[in-house]
Amino acid sequence: MLENNALGPPGSSRVSEQPQEIVNSPTELIVSVKNLVKRFGALQVLNGVSLEIKRGQLVAIVGRSGSGKSTLLRCMNALESIEGGELQVCGHDVGSPSRLARRELRSDVGIVFQSYNLFPHLTVERNITLALTAVKKHSRAEAGVIASRVLALVGLQDKAASYPEQLSGGQSQRVAIARSLALSPQLMLFDEVTSALDPELTGEVLKVMEDLSRQGMTMVLVTHEMAFARRLADVVIFMHQGRVWEMGPPEALFNHPQTAEFKQFISSGL
Ligand SMILES: Nc1ncnc2c1ncn2[C@@H]1O[C@H](COP(=O)(O)OP(=O)(O)O)[C@@H](O)[C@H]1O
Ligand SMILES: [Mg+2]
Repeated sequence: MLENNALGPPGSSRVSEQPQEIVNSPTELIVSVKNLVKRFGALQVLNGVSLEIKRGQLVAIVGRSGSGKSTLLRCMNALESIEGGELQVCGHDVGSPSRLARRELRSDVGIVFQSYNLFPHLTVERNITLALTAVKKHSRAEAGVIASRVLALVGLQDKAASYPEQLSGGQSQRVAIARSLALSPQLMLFDEVTSALDPELTGEVLKVMEDLSRQGMTMVLVTHEMAFARRLADVVIFMHQGRVWEMGPPEALFNHPQTAEFKQFISSGL
């Protein structure tokens, strides 16, 4: 099962079907991953991952802990180097560090993690405007206007002057999302952004992500929220042992799992 088989895992015909329809509209491709290989020392973490994401899609990546989901997201934002394959993200050649304009990539691709990483000594507004003034060279006034706009998008316009310790976990995560949106990304990556939240706070963050997707943002989510993935994702990807094991529209995928590994994953209720 684990030998390098370019056609993907046995029994999973959908993996090879996926890229075909996308070939018809190449201008809409936001992410193209071909045979991506990532190692940490002797450990091969991504074993030839291939996938494509079109503008406006919501893609949910699911799978057990350690299957390589976070590493794949981090590669898409050039937070990790890669050892093999090709990786194009928002027109940037991420697989070729010498040609990669990292700063441009990072403003085209937002990433939000489980931990919010807000500066505790800065207000919500300043947490958001910092990169706008320091990196994007906006004036404080311009940055303030952008901060108000993105805070409104996540329903927190009244928290601009608050400090992170005055926010709930759900509100903090929404500020982290707003901070990313302030840079006008074309693609948003979310790595288990609700996993550290109490269940009653999860919903407000999922709602923000649902709204964003409905407004047309291209999004990749690593998530344990199966109901959310099932209801809203255009494509669900099941990763297993560093490979795309199954991939397709959620209803087809969840109703007709092709592999024992995915069946087991679904029935384990993760
Ligand atoms: N910086 C790192 N150094 C060494 N090993 C790592 C590093 N990051 C992740 N790994 C290993 O890579 C594998 C995949 O990790 P990860 O992508 O975090 O999986 P997931 O997000 O699916 O839980 C795991 O075996 C993990 O221990
Ligand atoms: Mg992870």
